[in-house]
Amino acid sequence: MKAAPAVGEAPVGSEEDESGARRYHLSVRLPPAARQERLKGGSWFFTPGWLQEDARLPLYLDIGSGLGRFLLAEAEKHPEIRYLGVDPDYQCAQRVIGKLLSRASRGQLTGRVRFFFGSFFHCAPLLPAGSLNRVYLNYPDPWFKKRHLRRRLLCRFFFDTLEPLLAPVAEIFIQTDDDDYANHILGLLRGLEGYDLCESAEALFADLSPTLYQEKALAGSRARHCFHLRKI
Ligand SMILES: C[S@@+](CC[C@H](N)C(=O)[O-])C[C@H]1O[C@@H](n2cnc3c(N)ncnc32)[C@H](O)[C@@H]1O
Repeated sequence: MKAAPAVGEAPVGSEEDESGARRYHLSVRLPPAARQERLKGGSWFFTPGWLQEDARLPLYLDIGSGLGRFLLAEAEKHPEIRYLGVDPDYQCAQRVIGKLLSRASRGQLTGRVRFFFGSFFHCAPLLPAGSLNRVYLNYPDPWFKKRHLRRRLLCRFFFDTLEPLLAPVAEIFIQTDDDDYANHILGLLRGLEGYDLCESAEALFADLSPTLYQEKALAGSRARHCFHLRKI
């Protein structure tokens, strides 16, 4: 297993865009050290050692958990699954941690749910190969402005990073309400090898708990694009 990148280390990923220019993934910046220190420790805190504790249980990863509504609802519904949420946003992290601590004080979800404060790209090196049974990407930030497009999480580098972490027949659930991002994602997914792809996967999402952004999209009458991948 690779060591986690040091705080403040330069972005770990880059790739060429259509024009051949090299783009760096700015979203991989680690949160400032002081904030990391402030949030460190506690029953919610992810460490690689936690993965050894109950390795029999499947592990589901929620990338970009936001305020944690989906993460906690799914964890409460499925006591037979371990869940790991990841988000680099400080306010989100505080809210998720608050909810986890309050559940823990009632003896709920203690062993099975953990949170990583930081980017997926900094969490990925801490996860063993083949350890993920399922990955959720619910409404990843679409970054509307042209100059911000390079910050989009879903890119070839993302899938190259994720692929070795997936267990056999692992599933990836992706949903977005942004038509342009959906087209971009579909282009990427069609170019991937080693997966079964379902391009209109709404039915496969039917049993999943609603996310906050899903409800916002519904309220704004925006279309929902659902993609499902199964590793083969
Ligand atoms: C639009 S919100 C969606 C939140 C939640 N999944 C939902 O559906 O309600 C996108 C979330 O992705 C997080 N995010 C952005 N870049 C990320 C990265 N590199 N790794 C993990 N999460 C990231 C943001 O901080 C934000 O909380």
